[in-house]
Amino acid sequence: MQAPLTLSGPRQETMTTIGFIGSGNIGSTLARLAVDAGHDVVLSNSRGPETLQDLVTRLGPRARAATPVGAAAAGDLVVVTIPIRAYRQVPTEPLRGKVVIDTLNYDPARQGSVPEIEADDTPAHLLLQTHLTGSHVVKAFSNIFFKHLAALGRPTGAPDRSALPIAGDDAGARKAVATLIDSLGYDAYDVGPLVESRRFAPGTPAQLAYVNPVGTFAVPGRPASAEDLAKLLAA
Ligand SMILES: NC(=O)c1ccc[n+]([C@@H]2O[C@H](COP(=O)([O-])OP(=O)(O)OC[C@H]3O[C@@H](n4cnc5c(N)ncnc54)[C@H](OP(=O)(O)O)[C@@H]3O)[C@@H](O)[C@H]2O)c1
Repeated sequence: MQAPLTLSGPRQETMTTIGFIGSGNIGSTLARLAVDAGHDVVLSNSRGPETLQDLVTRLGPRARAATPVGAAAAGDLVVVTIPIRAYRQVPTEPLRGKVVIDTLNYDPARQGSVPEIEADDTPAHLLLQTHLTGSHVVKAFSNIFFKHLAALGRPTGAPDRSALPIAGDDAGARKAVATLIDSLGYDAYDVGPLVESRRFAPGTPAQLAYVNPVGTFAVPGRPASAEDLAKLLAA
């Protein structure tokens, strides 16, 4: 694992358009944080933009809905946050050359199994990058429960600010995601190449970083600093 490095820096000056492929628990939570931070969001799901109108209305004028291809094309950064079994439906061409945030976890009991993961051909944490060969995939937001994500954001420098781990093969893409994360109220903790995201995959101590000490998912959860996270990632 490369030397841990926190990438929290000055607040983002240029606001970003963030595309969402998937607008469920994590997608809509991130969209809310993004809109509140002054970013524009373009949401999509599997059923069509018209089914997202209530969410768009709740999010306000910085939000609109599109198809997955439209959201992929519109985003400066694009978040893929769907059940992992649907990964092959993520459009490749409009994401070529872009930074793509991958929140996907493998939970076959709840979300259905993926044959290539079951066959040990491709580990779950690398699956989206193998599909999006032309994109710079950064794993992020995959180890935090969506209600904790909504509740634990803090301004830069707050003593109880939490850190979120990120991993991806392109350093520039990791930096872009770290800058976005900073604007959403979290420090980014860079664990290096995408393969290192196994350190915060399901079943690892880092997956429970923000869960209350008694092990419940009660809201608001528990803040975890970069130092806390470093210990969990090394465990
Ligand atoms: N829930 C959490 O706290 C949490 C935390 C960390 C990571 N994750 C991971 O993040 C991902 C999303 O989780 P979630 O809880 O947000 O799921 P969710 O609430 O079930 O939402 C899934 C979203 O993906 C959309 N979708 C499904 N197939 C699609 C496709 N082919 N193209 C475009 N959109 C599609 C769904 O749209 P329709 O409703 O129209 O099908 C829905 O908007 C999962 O991989 C999960 O493992 C979840």
